[in-house]
Amino acid sequence: MTDTLTVVDNRTGKKYELPVHDGTIRAMDLRQIKTGADDFGLMTYDPAFMNTANCRSAITYIDGDNGILLYRGYPIEQLAEESDYLETAYLILFGELPTAAQMQAWTREITLHTMLHENIKKLMEGFQYDAHPMAIFLSTVGAMSSFYPEAKHIHDKSARMRQTHRLIAKVPSIAAWAYRHSIGRPYVYPDNDLSFSGNFLNMLFKMTELKYQPNPVLARALDVLFILHADHEQNCSTTTMRTIGSSHADPYSSLAGAAAALYGPLHGGANEAVLRMLNEIGSVNKVPEFIKRVKSGEGNNRLMGFGHRVYKSYDPRAKVIKKIADLVFAVTGKNPLLEIALELERIALQDDYFVTRKLYPNVDFYSGLIYQAMGFPVEMFPVLFAIPRTAGWIAQWEEMLLDSEQKIARPRQIYTGPGTRDYIPREQRQ
Ligand code: CMC
Repeated sequence: MTDTLTVVDNRTGKKYELPVHDGTIRAMDLRQIKTGADDFGLMTYDPAFMNTANCRSAITYIDGDNGILLYRGYPIEQLAEESDYLETAYLILFGELPTAAQMQAWTREITLHTMLHENIKKLMEGFQYDAHPMAIFLSTVGAMSSFYPEAKHIHDKSARMRQTHRLIAKVPSIAAWAYRHSIGRPYVYPDNDLSFSGNFLNMLFKMTELKYQPNPVLARALDVLFILHADHEQNCSTTTMRTIGSSHADPYSSLAGAAAALYGPLHGGANEAVLRMLNEIGSVNKVPEFIKRVKSGEGNNRLMGFGHRVYKSYDPRAKVIKKIADLVFAVTGKNPLLEIALELERIALQDDYFVTRKLYPNVDFYSGLIYQAMGFPVEMFPVLFAIPRTAGWIAQWEEMLLDSEQKIARPRQIYTGPGTRDYIPREQRQ
């Protein structure tokens, strides 16, 4: 068997042999297929990139049919059980789990960069009192490019490393301050004695006590949620990060764009939408009626937290989250919306509509319930997603920059507008 694809162009009768590598043909190999000398050549049409690989990547592997997710080869379940977010971020960024010495140096670097410039604080104070924290988050990340102008030296490895340390360390501070801003409380400075997630809880929830003591169960649960969200290969926001980065913009500008993509309700805003949906349903006995409405397509309702472009089975992250939910609820008390969520899942997993379309709970279905039980308002949910995804975004951005095959991202189009026509002066237009 040879790894080629034979294509016969029925328009011309010509036959072409296209190489197949890694289960793909190169779209550019189609360009030679022409009907005549002035034909541009065949292109592929793939709205929403349903069947187009945009890069080679060694970071994250997903087997959507079998519900498998690996970071650099390590199963997500093992990382959620054994690792912590900072170690996982190191793994995602540098390709291997750190040795004890590497981990110590990495933790030190991140801890040293948690503070924000006082002018960043002033910038954040300028937002309306009720500004959505995700809007504050993405604007502030974008503004950071003006604080670190050396970030534009994207081909300088050490400059890239400095921005990596800064971004991983500072996004929790920005996120926490965005939250404090939205509830009118003074911003809390980082406490570098605490762990990554412990310090984040400190910056969110510290009041007048001299030293904030994070609840270890909640700090660990948050850390596991961070591990689960750290990367997910070529999703909408990661593709945005790569696309903006491909123009050689600095990482802060690229990451602000990625965060903007994450903000949408079909992506990182989905856990917020799940909570709104559960509140709207209101009680377990209203679940069948809601499912009926979703199936009829009435009001464009979707079962939020269900379905995924890649997973056509149970999202492995949702399985881990369901387990930590019990630990969190033992501390915080049960979220009353849990019963509604469980009933939705029970009915949907038996219903033909969802079964035939392979719609299963995704990462967002239960994460919102945990966040809410921990005291986060729904507006913070996409921000909580953006903190750990920063590791994935940076790793994917750097991989793109170092990939000699990559260029500025620039898809083609099929033009559907009018042909050439002459300009008509305004007074003569009908
Ligand atoms: N509820 C009801 N029907 C659905 C849902 C849903 N959540 N998701 C997909 N469908 C239906 C859809 O109507 C379509 O039916 P038909 O073939 O009859 O037209 C079919 O399933 C295929 O859907 P699609 O929209 O073509 O699938 P997609 O791969 O473009 O969409 C998705 C993936 C995640 C955007 C979609 O499943 C969805 O909108 N889910 C709800 C939002 C959500 O939970 N998003 C979080 C995704 S996981 C976290 C992340 O990666 O950010």
